[in-house]
Amino acid sequence: MALLWSRTKILLCIGVATCGMARAETGADAWLRYAPVTKAAQYKWLPSHIVTMDNTRADHAAAEELRRGLTSMLGRPFTVQAFPHGIETNAILLGSVSAMRRSLVLEQEGKPLSSEEYRIVHKLDQGHTTLEVIGGTPQSEMYAVFHLLAEVAEQKPIPPDDRQSPSSPVRWVNQWDNLDGSIERGYAGRSIFFDGGHVRADLTRAGEYARLLASVGINGCTVNNVNSDLRTLTPEMLHEFARIADAFRPWGVRLSLSVDLSSPKIVGGLETFDPLDPKVIAWWQKKVDEIYTLIPDFAGFVVKADSEGRAGPSQYGRTPAEAANVLARALKAHSGLVLYRGFVYNHHLDWQDLKADRARAGYDNFHALDGTFEPNVVVQVKHGPIDFQVREPVSPLFAALQHTSQTIELQITQEYTGQQRHMVYLVPMWKAALDTDMRAQGRSTPVKKIVEGKSFGQPLGGFVGVANVGLDENWLHHPMALANLYGFGRLAWNPDLSADQIVDEWTRQTFGNEPKIVSTIDTLQLGSWHAYEQYTGPLGVGGLTDIIGVHFGPGIESAERNGWGQWIRADDKGIGMDRTVATGTGYIGQYPPELAATYESLKTCPDELLLFMHHVPYTYVLHSGKTVVQHVYDSHYAGAATVATYAPQWRALQGAVDKERYEQVLALFEYQAGHADVWRDSVDQWFQKISGIDDVLHRVGYDPYRIEAESMVADGYTPAEATPWETASGGKAVVCKQSECTLTTHVAGASGRYSVAVQYFDLRIGVSHYELLLNGKSVAEWKADATLPPAVVDRKLDGHTSTRFTLPEVDLHTGDTIVLRGTPDAGEAAPVDYLELIPEKKTR
Ligand code: GCU
Repeated sequence: MALLWSRTKILLCIGVATCGMARAETGADAWLRYAPVTKAAQYKWLPSHIVTMDNTRADHAAAEELRRGLTSMLGRPFTVQAFPHGIETNAILLGSVSAMRRSLVLEQEGKPLSSEEYRIVHKLDQGHTTLEVIGGTPQSEMYAVFHLLAEVAEQKPIPPDDRQSPSSPVRWVNQWDNLDGSIERGYAGRSIFFDGGHVRADLTRAGEYARLLASVGINGCTVNNVNSDLRTLTPEMLHEFARIADAFRPWGVRLSLSVDLSSPKIVGGLETFDPLDPKVIAWWQKKVDEIYTLIPDFAGFVVKADSEGRAGPSQYGRTPAEAANVLARALKAHSGLVLYRGFVYNHHLDWQDLKADRARAGYDNFHALDGTFEPNVVVQVKHGPIDFQVREPVSPLFAALQHTSQTIELQITQEYTGQQRHMVYLVPMWKAALDTDMRAQGRSTPVKKIVEGKSFGQPLGGFVGVANVGLDENWLHHPMALANLYGFGRLAWNPDLSADQIVDEWTRQTFGNEPKIVSTIDTLQLGSWHAYEQYTGPLGVGGLTDIIGVHFGPGIESAERNGWGQWIRADDKGIGMDRTVATGTGYIGQYPPELAATYESLKTCPDELLLFMHHVPYTYVLHSGKTVVQHVYDSHYAGAATVATYAPQWRALQGAVDKERYEQVLALFEYQAGHADVWRDSVDQWFQKISGIDDVLHRVGYDPYRIEAESMVADGYTPAEATPWETASGGKAVVCKQSECTLTTHVAGASGRYSVAVQYFDLRIGVSHYELLLNGKSVAEWKADATLPPAVVDRKLDGHTSTRFTLPEVDLHTGDTIVLRGTPDAGEAAPVDYLELIPEKKTR
């Protein structure tokens, strides 16, 4: 019956462009949808019998995955048999290289496969077709299977002999999950691992997550926050963590834990956690042995120490290397690793000291330790020297550690890049970092080769992505954000892949192969980082977000005058951090000489990093020929205008993409367009005020279609301040402190078709109700029910809560009366910033 159904479906699909379109999609399958392909005929040679040659759990899981995927995509049944059955006929033979040899299937051919390598070979012999899917180990069979399934999903030909191996051994994700079930910087719901201080009873999602990770070659997952809970290493918790490791194991994803270096004292009851104290050394050894009795394939520890208030070896005058080595020696016999984070800095810097510079910290704390780490220590370095800003240079530490294995830490969770409420495809940003040639030792040393261990001949190294998936059905909240998780895995496997290729693979697997869908989504994704940078923080100044708060909306001056060291050093004359050797903090001198020379000189410093490296007047002329301040204005208008096209482009896919994901993405694009305007206006108003220089195109502060709420006829509404001021248009909003209030205006412009936009504030504390009336007749109503990141609990009128509702295609006549009625709820005072009547076909 099932077969009949799928055949019928295939037949129905012939000639229809988008076969997958009728499926109800939650996004839970991510890129592993296995939707029927339209060009199934090209795979009719693929044998229907899958024969497993090993008898391991990984082997069976791989075979079952292959059966499930091929049956679903090709619309014919595939079966799994264990060797020796089925071997004499046409078959897909799936096994590790040693099992293949044992069964004499594989002659000695070519170079032996390394442990994570795989090979897929298509053979035709005396009328028999075999496809040998061979892993260096049973685990890498899984990688081969997912690769094969991706090729079919993308309707690509299967090459006759394909051999693939990963770039480097460490390909991990970090989850910043807390034991109480919250996630630090997580924007897609609560933890899939923890709740109420314990590991969840139901770990189904954990297993599904491991499957997703394995499908792109990720082999490790650190499940708890880098700001590690002090209970992490208690015997009770270790038993609980072991259950997560069990859920991961069939997919070859190894569990690791973030640990706090004060654990010997807090958990072990010792009077010290000095890493060189013999009792402390013995404690770590015993603890590690205990972990391996519970989790035999435990991957190792991630350590955040002496940073942002975490305990660390500095308390005892010890170095990061001395601390890391104690843990490493304990882990060595078990082949475990220590990933010691290079993110060590003082967050109590003196902001008045013009030589103080947080960007220097990684290099200053670690470069002298190069060569003193145990071989199983890997230093985990954030890609930029600050903290995942929308544009940063690469960390100079990469080139400074030449006798130490390193991983690059990339952030999949969009902490500073729109928190999965804005579409920002991050792979182009990561590629820019990975491809940066640091010219260490005066030769080509791109970051990707350094972290692969190839530039300086290091044995370990690789990639760590901070993922922070949550209980949202689609893992990351924004359907488009999944391209970042996918892209991280693909880059970790092969950093030479292009951003275009990665997104194209992802789109085809996630939304199907229909050309219109593929080209629309690929184009949208590929331009999104640039657009986000344009409307948030241009010229390397950093994300002009609320640095000491939630890192989501604009909050320009929050970076200044505090110890966190993300200063933009703006005054009425100029802006930017002077990091030169000549007159500034000397940071630039941490790079190898050729790169340092490029950044030191204003003539050669690229525009996109100008304000990261130099302090210049607002009137400074860029290589582009524009002044700094005019560039800021122009780029903010350009970025917001690009985002305004997302929803219309997406609407062209209505009916082609399933309804669920269509509507979800549309709502997010509409939200993003409104919030990009909030960013644009906040940043531009602020720059105009501080520089005293007007926009030569007269856009900033001049909004011909805008009617400020505070200038409308109010019944009940009273003026209110937004903080910071620049996050409300004209610095002011209105709130309703009674059961219902109204704002009234009249159409002053020409009669015609308009979009009516209402900019209001959507706070977490209530669900206000709004209604728009045209000449006394209701034309729209909506609730302020928060599309904002779940991590945001914000009671203020500000750049995080400012939100837009747009009613398109309204016929208005000169003199018409428009009334906005607001009904507060639970302390949320139905706040309003402004109304905009935008003639249709006009963009600004
Ligand atoms: C950022 C982030 C913190 C996190 C830290 C880290 O500063 O905002 O939440 O703990 O990075 O990477 O350790």
